[in-house]
Amino acid sequence: MSRSAHPAGPRHADVLPEGHPSAPPADLNHLDRKVWASTVTRTPDGVVSVGGIEVTRLAEEFGTPAYLVDETDFRERARAWRTAFGPDADVFYAGKAFLSRAVVRWLHDEGLNLDVCSGGELTTALSAGMPADRIAFHGNNKSVDEIETAIRAGVGRIVLDSFQEIVRVAHIAQSLGRRQRVQIRITVGVEAHTHEFIATAHEDQKFGIPLAGGQAAEAVRRALQLDGLELIGIHSHIGSQIFDMSGFEVAAHRVVGLLRDIRDEHGVELPEIDLGGGLGIAYTSGDDPREPHEIAKALNEIVSRECEGAKLRTPRISVEPGRAIVGPTAFTLYEVGTIKLLDGLRTYVSVDGGMSDNIRTALYDAEYSVALVSRTSEAAPMLVRVVGKHCESGDIVVKDAFLPADLAPGDLIAVPATGAYCRSMASNYNHALRPPVVAVREGEARVIVRRETEEDLLRLDVG
Ligand code: LLP
Repeated sequence: MSRSAHPAGPRHADVLPEGHPSAPPADLNHLDRKVWASTVTRTPDGVVSVGGIEVTRLAEEFGTPAYLVDETDFRERARAWRTAFGPDADVFYAGKAFLSRAVVRWLHDEGLNLDVCSGGELTTALSAGMPADRIAFHGNNKSVDEIETAIRAGVGRIVLDSFQEIVRVAHIAQSLGRRQRVQIRITVGVEAHTHEFIATAHEDQKFGIPLAGGQAAEAVRRALQLDGLELIGIHSHIGSQIFDMSGFEVAAHRVVGLLRDIRDEHGVELPEIDLGGGLGIAYTSGDDPREPHEIAKALNEIVSRECEGAKLRTPRISVEPGRAIVGPTAFTLYEVGTIKLLDGLRTYVSVDGGMSDNIRTALYDAEYSVALVSRTSEAAPMLVRVVGKHCESGDIVVKDAFLPADLAPGDLIAVPATGAYCRSMASNYNHALRPPVVAVREGEARVIVRRETEEDLLRLDVG
């Protein structure tokens, strides 16, 4: 299929749908640095490139849809977090955002630790050579097998999430002749959302042990009594895609309050606190995320101040960014298949992927940006909805966005900031084949997760 402009491309519908972006950007060919990975640029001939390779070449070699990861950007971001927190703190990359063996090796190289939340993530981490003592194991219902595997491997910490798990992990550790380092995950009564934090209904969730009503203090009491456990700290994670630090401030205040109560009751000063992940990234030009050094400075100050007030030694801090490291480093490359102009209603641009490679729009009403990347265009902006090829009308990739009115089948478009929670939440809905993840760096591209094939689908279908 030709990738050139279609002379008779549709124009946008006359009536703008509700909730549309207020105005088209001044220049549709411009790539906003905020949402694109650091090496993404438009070459003089108008094609977008990443890591020095044009997307048209990448599409030919690897097909579409494909997730393209800018390895240089990933490493830079990982390093920025590491440097910002320094040697007296730990950065655990949250593998749930996206995990593969190559990613584990990049993290290892850059001195980060890893947070895993399933046996599958643990296996991936170990098989790529992440030292077990740099792994934290999370989850609200880890299986006995998972706990046993983690303890045998020697994971650095298990984050305990319930009263049952305190006993379960202690027994398994003891039966293996081990003393497992653990943290207790508590819910501090802050539920952070994108631009706000809401202090109601916060304890009504499946994660953690509530601070309220003395449950967290009771969990600490029990953990301290069990020989199989070495309680090293308290863990709190308040939410995701957060821009406002005030939620972390309240969380740190309450976690330190618990450390003080533990010292007063047991004469023990726990040496660590983990403030979780959740730092926001830019999905559209309207988002303004903070830099890692600002976040580190803010968190360090909050914790030191709170500890000073409580007359506690400042504990070692750890954080667990997932999205903030991998999210901005990748984009999804799609080929336009059809363009449907519904007069007076909306223009639908269908691509060769959809909710199976990015469920976030359907699931969270997430906002994304999109750009024509196989060429430039001087055509007028056209308001469109980018949709996938699945048998579901909610199969939306980008709800409302402007693309040039001469957009045509065969054009390549890309959705930036899809590094986090897209491949990791991808599905086989409609027996879609999950796209590959291709890492690009300094003029070289290599597949780090290959595209699924129909043989892969049939391999599991053993009926
Ligand atoms: N630590 C813990 C204990 C977590 O539960 C999470 C995310 C993180 C760290 C990393 O959060 P991040 O820095 O990546 O925001 N699927 C959703 C996000 C779910 C996050 C679950 N926990 C999404 O696509 O927005």
